[in-house]
Amino acid sequence: MSPRKIIIDTDPGQDDAVAILLALASPEEIDLLSITCVAGNVPLELTARNARMVCELAGRTDVKVFAGCDRPMGRDLVTAEHVHGKTGLDGPTLPDPQMPLQDGHAVEFLVETLRQEPARSVTLVPIGPLTNIATAFRKAPEVIERVQEIVLMGGAYFQVGNVTPAAEFNIYVDPQAADIVFSSGVPLTVMPLDVTHQVLVTGPRNGAIRAIGTPVAKAVAEMTAFFERYDREKYGSDGAPLHDPCTIAYLIQPDLFSGRYVNVEIETTSELTLGMTVADWWGVSDRAPNATFMGSADADGFFSLLTERLSRL
Ligand code: RIB
Ligand code: CA
Repeated sequence: MSPRKIIIDTDPGQDDAVAILLALASPEEIDLLSITCVAGNVPLELTARNARMVCELAGRTDVKVFAGCDRPMGRDLVTAEHVHGKTGLDGPTLPDPQMPLQDGHAVEFLVETLRQEPARSVTLVPIGPLTNIATAFRKAPEVIERVQEIVLMGGAYFQVGNVTPAAEFNIYVDPQAADIVFSSGVPLTVMPLDVTHQVLVTGPRNGAIRAIGTPVAKAVAEMTAFFERYDREKYGSDGAPLHDPCTIAYLIQPDLFSGRYVNVEIETTSELTLGMTVADWWGVSDRAPNATFMGSADADGFFSLLTERLSRL
């Protein structure tokens, strides 16, 4: 089977970094057309810097990295340095990036790529706020039906919010963009906190990654060791939840996850629940389903895949 053409839209972020590395380690399944960066965990200048540092860590200076939107569509940017550190990639000491950013805006690249690639041949993998994707859909509505699938990390239902009592960070930062994406009609697969909180980098799992012994594995172990302290304090969890890599693991081995095809709407007005993903998990509304909303993950299977693939870099 030929590899799946994808564009990762990202706000690195330690977990974003692991997702990028997993994609780069899996050329049989993933053809990474480019990385588009968005403001989220940290401001755009840093997410665009971090994405290039991760590519260089993997020895992949050939990857095209674009900078995109530096703020949400309709509100001020909210960042998460308290989780990811002031650089957004605290943990390992990595050299400043040498590879350049691509000329042009990420949104233009997204639109042109969707226009030029065969219809329904490109999957979008947003793992940060959905600003770039929604802006592209607003700018060129004709490309929406040309998207093969969107596999995103965002939202929560049973796990409720991580940035407010009701909202997960990626959706909360740009609820308007999320509403555009969730109502676009594009086939949508959602990795919410409901599954990402099941894939925790416990001590033994971190040890197995560190035992690979390569510079990539050492950096990943240091990233997740830094990244875990927020969730340990907040949830008492036994390690960092690897949110974003769930999207790439799904593309490589979909049977690691299971969920339901349900209606998911985004709260865009209430101050109290702004950014909530209202998933009709029990089918109590008459709203048409629009997303496969994942509910369970095979954590051991996920980590054996991740560890094996990281050992290839
Ligand atoms: O809520 C988790 C999400 O927010 C992840 O994508 C993490 O990188 C942050 O962007
Ligand atoms: Ca992210």
